[in-house]
Amino acid sequence: MYKLVLLSGFLYQLPKDFSYIARETSNLKNTIMKKYPFIQNSHLRFISYSLLVAVLLIFSGCEKATAGNNEPGTEINPDSIKGLKDYYKDFFPVGVAVSPTSLTGSQSALILKHFGSLTAENVMKIAPIHPEENRYYWDNADIIVNYAKANGMMMRGHTLCWHQQTPAWMFKDAEGNPVTKEVLLARLKDHITQVVTRYKGKVYAWDVVNEAVDDDNLKFLRETEWYKICGEEYIAKAFQWAHEADPDAKLFYNDYNTEFAGKRDKVYRLLKQLLDNGVPVHGIGLQGHWNIVNPTEKDLRDAIEKFSSLGLKVQITELDVSVYSSNETDPADNVFTVEREQKQIEKYKMVFRVFRKYKNVITGVTFWNVSDKSSWLDNFPVKGRKNYPLLFDQNLQPKKAYWEVVKF
Ligand code: GLA
Repeated sequence: MYKLVLLSGFLYQLPKDFSYIARETSNLKNTIMKKYPFIQNSHLRFISYSLLVAVLLIFSGCEKATAGNNEPGTEINPDSIKGLKDYYKDFFPVGVAVSPTSLTGSQSALILKHFGSLTAENVMKIAPIHPEENRYYWDNADIIVNYAKANGMMMRGHTLCWHQQTPAWMFKDAEGNPVTKEVLLARLKDHITQVVTRYKGKVYAWDVVNEAVDDDNLKFLRETEWYKICGEEYIAKAFQWAHEADPDAKLFYNDYNTEFAGKRDKVYRLLKQLLDNGVPVHGIGLQGHWNIVNPTEKDLRDAIEKFSSLGLKVQITELDVSVYSSNETDPADNVFTVEREQKQIEKYKMVFRVFRKYKNVITGVTFWNVSDKSSWLDNFPVKGRKNYPLLFDQNLQPKKAYWEVVKF
């Protein structure tokens, strides 16, 4: 390598200031020409050109190899510098749910490489962002929104009205009694107007109402505080106020288990009712908290077709694929076996194949958490049972499932 550098120096006829290298170069040249008298200046010049080109090629090859992650078992993979979002650039934006702390260090590098859209995992929910009636707390949400803006990423807002992570003050008066419908609707209007206005032009889509439909097949709407105090009117009003605050924002109804016929049909009924009444709903968010068994391909396709037949766009808003099925709750099952891994790979392959097929109606796919290092599924439905539901492992490296998802 030392000699290569000297020969390259000869080629460039380094200025006198680099007299040491120049002297060594010249000594080397003289030694070679003395030992091999048939070698002339022009030969050496040719050799040094070739060596310089070779060195440059070797270095650029090394850089490519280390710039990205190589598919296991392959030589340098020229595609490895691409991120997930790049493979899907002709299909839909690929996003991820984050906390402010995930936007630093190696997680940040992974996020920037693979994702083009962000969702706040928690900090835009009512409790964190509006902890008291007359106090909003913007700092954490601002961190995420500013990061998205600074890095040219899309930003989804999550969520304006939900029955969980909503502070108790919302539903109570100063004496601790339930507020009237008028008071609660006025509070909801203030909340939505303040939050949507603050992020107008920065958040392109909002999950306006989350999980308003009941899981029980015999019931339609979930009997939350919102419902008990306001009746179903709060849903339409929430969309209307969000639209008034930012007429350009895309407004979503967001829910889980939307691929099971019973829940799917109730969500469809709600959305149809809203649209028939002229309520500004633009899309349905299928949360996508799936597992190695569900959904089946048919269920997923049927759901996408049914919702999009209403003229709505579809987004997968909270994607993860648990390595346990929903009826496995025994903590003794907490081993990530090869069989479970294979089933997860197959499920990821299938769902992304379906997403690609419906790219005309799917306008976004967002993962719920960055990597297997930490997921809400580590504590749900079984507390402390480690799960591995994402495409990146605990060391932030792409898993086998990742390589299957980008292979098409
Ligand atoms: C629901 C909510 C999300 C999140 C997950 C669990 O799906 O919409 O915001 O809380 O539950 O992490």
